[in-house]
Amino acid sequence: MIGIIGAMEEEVAVLKQEMNIQEVCEYASMQFCKGTLCGKQVVIVRSGIGKVNAGICAQILADKFAVDVLINTGIAGSLDAAIDIGDMVISTDLVEHDMDATIFGDPLGQVPRMDTFSFPADAELIKKAVAANEEANPDIKTFTGRIVSGDQFVSSSEVKEKLVKNFQAKCTEMEGAAIAHVAYLNKISCVIIRAISDKADNSATMDYPTFEKRAIEHSVRLVRNLLPRI
Ligand code: ADE
Repeated sequence: MIGIIGAMEEEVAVLKQEMNIQEVCEYASMQFCKGTLCGKQVVIVRSGIGKVNAGICAQILADKFAVDVLINTGIAGSLDAAIDIGDMVISTDLVEHDMDATIFGDPLGQVPRMDTFSFPADAELIKKAVAANEEANPDIKTFTGRIVSGDQFVSSSEVKEKLVKNFQAKCTEMEGAAIAHVAYLNKISCVIIRAISDKADNSATMDYPTFEKRAIEHSVRLVRNLLPRI
């Protein structure tokens, strides 16, 4: 079973329309749509925004639906000058950028007393997502690398520069690391797929609404092409 999480309704609406829904279950005020899409058994769900919503959602997918693959699609702010609005980032690993126990000597982003600094995506899923995107969206560039998540819409050059310096990440968003964290604890394969909607700087709030729609279209095309490969 493949779990597909989007933070916002716009991000999952098209996929839900296209799937053959067999059952809708509600847990933690979230609607889990179970059925088939592109010939695969899937559960598609809108988690809501932020790490807590995403973490709860991912754990329910593990507990109630026994998913063995977790895919999170959505949009993100670019942290790399080479990565433009509209391009796609496939996660190699995820870090919670707002986790700060540096006072105890932990590096910024480290969840204290966990045996990993970053939560890895599955190598096979990364390869498949890259191939799927290159085929489905030949008009945009595909990047792989670290994605950071925090309960913060990053829209200032100052904050952006700190993230760039501290984490060497490709983009920033608000859910991926929580989902990868849950996947890590439950030993589930995961990949986070993010289309860039803004540059996480002072222009972010202006660019975001304009490019959100296009970014979501790219994500949907990628998922359609990725599912048959899993
Ligand atoms: N999602 C899309 N753009 C973002 C940004 N700049 N910060 C956090 N999450 C985002």
